[in-house]
Amino acid sequence: MLIKTINELREYLQPYRADNNTIGLVPTMGALHNGHLSLIKAAKGMCDRVVVSVFVNPIQFGPKEDYNKYPRTLDADYDLCTKNGVDVVFSPTPEEMYGKGFILSNDNLTYVCPPFNYTDKLCGKSRVGHFDGVCTVVNKLFNIVQPNFAFFGEKDAQQLIIIKKMVKDLNIPVEIIPCPIVREASGLALSSRNKYLSEEGKKQALVLSKILNNIKSCYDKGIKDVNLLKETAFSFLNDNVELEYLEIFNSETLEPQEVADSSSRAFIACRVEGVRLIDNIKLGA
Ligand code: PAJ
Repeated sequence: MLIKTINELREYLQPYRADNNTIGLVPTMGALHNGHLSLIKAAKGMCDRVVVSVFVNPIQFGPKEDYNKYPRTLDADYDLCTKNGVDVVFSPTPEEMYGKGFILSNDNLTYVCPPFNYTDKLCGKSRVGHFDGVCTVVNKLFNIVQPNFAFFGEKDAQQLIIIKKMVKDLNIPVEIIPCPIVREASGLALSSRNKYLSEEGKKQALVLSKILNNIKSCYDKGIKDVNLLKETAFSFLNDNVELEYLEIFNSETLEPQEVADSSSRAFIACRVEGVRLIDNIKLGA
C-alpha cells in the first residue's frame, strides 16, 4: 500500500499497534537498490508490519548539493517493496512533512541537532547542517510511525552512529538495527548516487573499497599505527579520484585514534566524476 499522508499512515498502523504487532521502519530516500533491500529483508525477518519511507529530505541537502537532481523512482521503488512483502510505502511530500509553503530556514522549524563532536568530522565537515537535517527527519519519522525497530545501513556509518546517539540521548523508544554494507561483486558499495557514474567512473570508484581492504589487511598483519595505515592509501590514488577524507576513528564514539584497535573503523570519502562517494570498514573482528 502506498500512503502519502501522516494521518492515513497513523490510521493504518493504529489497529496493528493495538494488537501488539511489532512495527519495523526502513527510512530511505528512494532509488532503492539491493542495499536498501537488505534492510527491508532484515525488517521482514524481525517485524509483523514493515513500513518503508521514501522521502528525499530537502533539509539534509546543502544549497550546492544534488537535492533537485537526486534520483526519484517511486514507481519502481513501490514495485520492489510490494514484491518483497513491505506493508506500507510512506512517501510524503515536503509540504506534508514540513508544512505548507515551508521555508528552508532555522526560523520556522524545530531541529534536532546532534553534538558537535559527532558532526565536525567526516561527512559532517563538508556537509554543514546535514546531520541536523537527518536527525530532524528521522526523529519525525520515529514520531509518525512509532516503530519498535528501525533499520539503518553501516554504509552510512557516521549517520548510524549519530542516530544511535540521538535515540539514547532523547530516550526514543525504538531499537536501532544496524545492517552490513551490500557491495557489487567488484567491491563497490551500492549507493543511489552510483547512478550518476559512467562505466569508467564505476571502475575508478573501486579505489575506495581497495584502499579500505588494504588498510584492513595491513591492520590484520599487525600495523596498528593510524598514520602508517592511512599512508598505505596513497599508492591507490590517481588524478581521477579526489580524496575528501580518510580517517580511522573509534567506531562508536568517532573519537580520533593514534593506534588502531578492535574498536576502530576506517572511513573514506572521494569524488569520482564529480560524484561524492563514501565507504567504510571495521578493522577489528
Ligand atoms: P538513503 O541514502 O536512501 O539510505 C537509506 C538506508 O539505506 C540508510 O540506512 C543507508 O545506510 C542504507 N544503505 C544505503 N546503501 C547501502 C548499502 N550499500 N548497504 C547497506 N545499506 C545501505 O540514508 C538516507 O537515505 C537518509 O539520510 C535517511 C536516513 C533516509 C534520512 O533522510
